[in-house]
Amino acid sequence: MKKYAILLNPRHSRVYFEASLKLSVAELTLALSHAGHKDFEIIEESFGSVPYLCFRCQEPVNEKTLERLSRCSFTYALFEVCKTDGEPCFTPLSLPNPLYIDGGISCILKYSGKTNENFTRFMINLALFSSPFYGEKIKLLDPVAGKGTTLFEALSLGYDAYGIELSEKAAHDAFTYLKKYLEIERFKHRTGHETINIKESSAGAKRVFAELSRTKQEMKENAVKRWEMVWGNSQYADSYFKKNSFHIMVGDLPYGVQHGNVSSSRQGSFTRSPKELVSLCAPSWHKVLKPNGVIALSWNSFVFSRQQFAKLLEDAGFSVFCGEIYESLEHRVDNSIKRDLILAKKL
Ligand SMILES: C[S@@+](CC[C@H](N)C(=O)[O-])C[C@H]1O[C@@H](n2cnc3c(N)ncnc32)[C@H](O)[C@@H]1O
Repeated sequence: MKKYAILLNPRHSRVYFEASLKLSVAELTLALSHAGHKDFEIIEESFGSVPYLCFRCQEPVNEKTLERLSRCSFTYALFEVCKTDGEPCFTPLSLPNPLYIDGGISCILKYSGKTNENFTRFMINLALFSSPFYGEKIKLLDPVAGKGTTLFEALSLGYDAYGIELSEKAAHDAFTYLKKYLEIERFKHRTGHETINIKESSAGAKRVFAELSRTKQEMKENAVKRWEMVWGNSQYADSYFKKNSFHIMVGDLPYGVQHGNVSSSRQGSFTRSPKELVSLCAPSWHKVLKPNGVIALSWNSFVFSRQQFAKLLEDAGFSVFCGEIYESLEHRVDNSIKRDLILAKKL
């Protein structure tokens, strides 16, 4: 058996680092399985007091494995480990660069309520590894986008990124930040906005968007990435977007402790219940996801249970992923938040 050691990403915050060890085992398991490895064992091990995530596998790593490992949220460096005179000997392995845009795009903007960008990458990866769409031109929707961490992470991976956000300020801040970033980093881009009128709500909505490319030639050939944010209510996702549009949906739901979330209309009454939000929105989320598309949502499991969440998704036509990997993702964020992640497929 071959043995490999992964040096964990030092970008992780201290609080997240402890939880991330457990999460990274799940991400690594899905990444290795997705790359076609059948017989492997994952071990947490320290060398010289530095923790590594190690794995032994029957087949040596190949291009497919390296490509998947390079995009994992925890990967910083990969080594092949041999024993020389009884001592471990590390040979560094080159990883391909999985990024279309430098990952810094999702880290620069800081604000309270921001979802950790590594956790966001983790959610995107789990959704993608659980879907049949890996390697395709991905369209991602974050139905509760905030100031866009998921959208920026998705863009950095080269996906078309779409979001819906109830707070006008958050949607506006995300768009303003993106425009500034594209100017400073000299991306070729065009931006625009439009009002959306829908029959389901008198509140209306607004769409802001950007199309970008790295070179003039790409722009000329229309080889662009699209970024879009709808300032509106996720309950009307199917009025803002066409049916069967998205390969994956990834979102970090309001935690139900600090921030109110509105469920009845864009300017409607505030509720602190993410459960109510899911029950109102799940039917329209189901419509805009492609068949076999995967939705990954994180939430505060102190507020409602996995069983309750699964039932809401199943009632809307989703099939929830079960099994050890998918049911071992709960981790403590602070005293009032225990975060969990649920993944489900549109049948
Ligand atoms: C935990 S935050 C997401 C943070 C985001 N991932 C980020 O890093 O910026 C949840 C977001 O859901 C939004 N939200 C709540 N109810 C909503 C609804 N019905 N439609 C759209 N967005 C909603 C809230 O305004 C909040 O910004």
